[in-house]
Amino acid sequence: MTSVLKCIHCGREYPINAVMYTCADCGGLLDVRHDLDALRGRVSRALFDERLGTLEAPFNSGVWRYKELIYPDVNAAQIVTRGEGNTNLYPVPKLAKWAGVGTLYLKHEGENPTGSFKDRGMTSGVTQARALGMTRVACASTGNTSASMAAYASMAEMEGIVFFQNKQIALGKLSQAIAYGATCVQINADFDRNMELVRQVAERLGVYVLNSVNPFRLEGQKAIIFETLQQLRWRVPDWIVCPGGNLGNSSAFGKALHELHALGLIERIPRVAIVQAEGANPLYRAYQNGFARFERVKAQTVATAIKIGNPVNYAKAVRTLEWTNGVVEQVSDQEIMDAKALIDAQGIGCEPASACSLAGTRKLVARGVIQPDETVVGILTGHLLKDPDATISYHSGTLEHIRARYPNRLHQAEPNLDEIVGILTAAERT
Ligand code: F0G
Repeated sequence: MTSVLKCIHCGREYPINAVMYTCADCGGLLDVRHDLDALRGRVSRALFDERLGTLEAPFNSGVWRYKELIYPDVNAAQIVTRGEGNTNLYPVPKLAKWAGVGTLYLKHEGENPTGSFKDRGMTSGVTQARALGMTRVACASTGNTSASMAAYASMAEMEGIVFFQNKQIALGKLSQAIAYGATCVQINADFDRNMELVRQVAERLGVYVLNSVNPFRLEGQKAIIFETLQQLRWRVPDWIVCPGGNLGNSSAFGKALHELHALGLIERIPRVAIVQAEGANPLYRAYQNGFARFERVKAQTVATAIKIGNPVNYAKAVRTLEWTNGVVEQVSDQEIMDAKALIDAQGIGCEPASACSLAGTRKLVARGVIQPDETVVGILTGHLLKDPDATISYHSGTLEHIRARYPNRLHQAEPNLDEIVGILTAAERT
């Protein structure tokens, strides 16, 4: 049984060990295509359930537990893993009520080892880099990809190379990438330009690209869906709602659901809703015109992770929408930050981009797209500790163009007992 790379546009196939990201003939995106017929007898819910609770790598990973659906032929000894995944699926009845929906769960991918879902894609991407004998891997990043790639590259004893923009970079993420030992280059350009540059530099220097244009990244990210369904005891929700930036996750989700359905592991396919920030909404715009044309935008949003105007996985995201009868929504920065404040105040917390899932759910319910009695799983893609400036500015009322509807004001005091007690008794009354 062998997997192949296959162009999603013209169908041309390439060997699995070809170092390429797009089709040599037509430029289309490539899928990792597994032999589903051969897998049919080999995978079952019971197989994946049996592996739950194992302490042994690789099956203790929330990605490699589903190895047959991620990369069936890879030698287990090659796998570069930090036991990623195994993230919580939180029932959040109060937020469900706020959004106007019967049942809402939040799947917290910020609980991954480096603080975002990227670890799921990096374990598979870096494993392939190792299988190919690569010594250097590279990515452009708004933050999370860099931290994740840097960690996994170091584990695999490869050099990680990161292209950051030099403005508004999340310092925690830059510090992770530097600390893990990656070569970090700050470039006077936005994410979209850095994405183009990293592909050109990688080609010139023979470096392996680990952005989500790399199809092996998406194979690992499919496990967000596998794990969610397993946590729901394989009961299929009505909706999966996620933020959309470079559109890797949404692309992976469609493929995961398509494969699970083809293999008979789920009886029906949930609908996927992709939520973009208003200021970084090229997919939303294309969706509005029935995908007649795609135009890149100059991205601007408080949600730094999804400040992307020219998503590389556009065509795969459109395929997800077709496969899942999906929809696209957009939300304002105001809506993102308010939804984030509510998720944070539950004691769960997430970064701004992740809050698109909740803000988008509420909007889709209000528009009558999601029905009040339906079950929704929202994906929280990153950790609360990313973009702390946005969080603190929101609560202190200094975030530009945003009026905090759910503020938790920061108090200041002199080291004076009466003053401190005064603040706390006043706070009690409000
Ligand atoms: N949420 C978070 C927290 C992210 O870091 C990203 C992407 C997204 C959502 C968008 O996901 O691209 O799959 O649609 N961050 C990238 C990075 C671009 O460099 O860390 P997508």
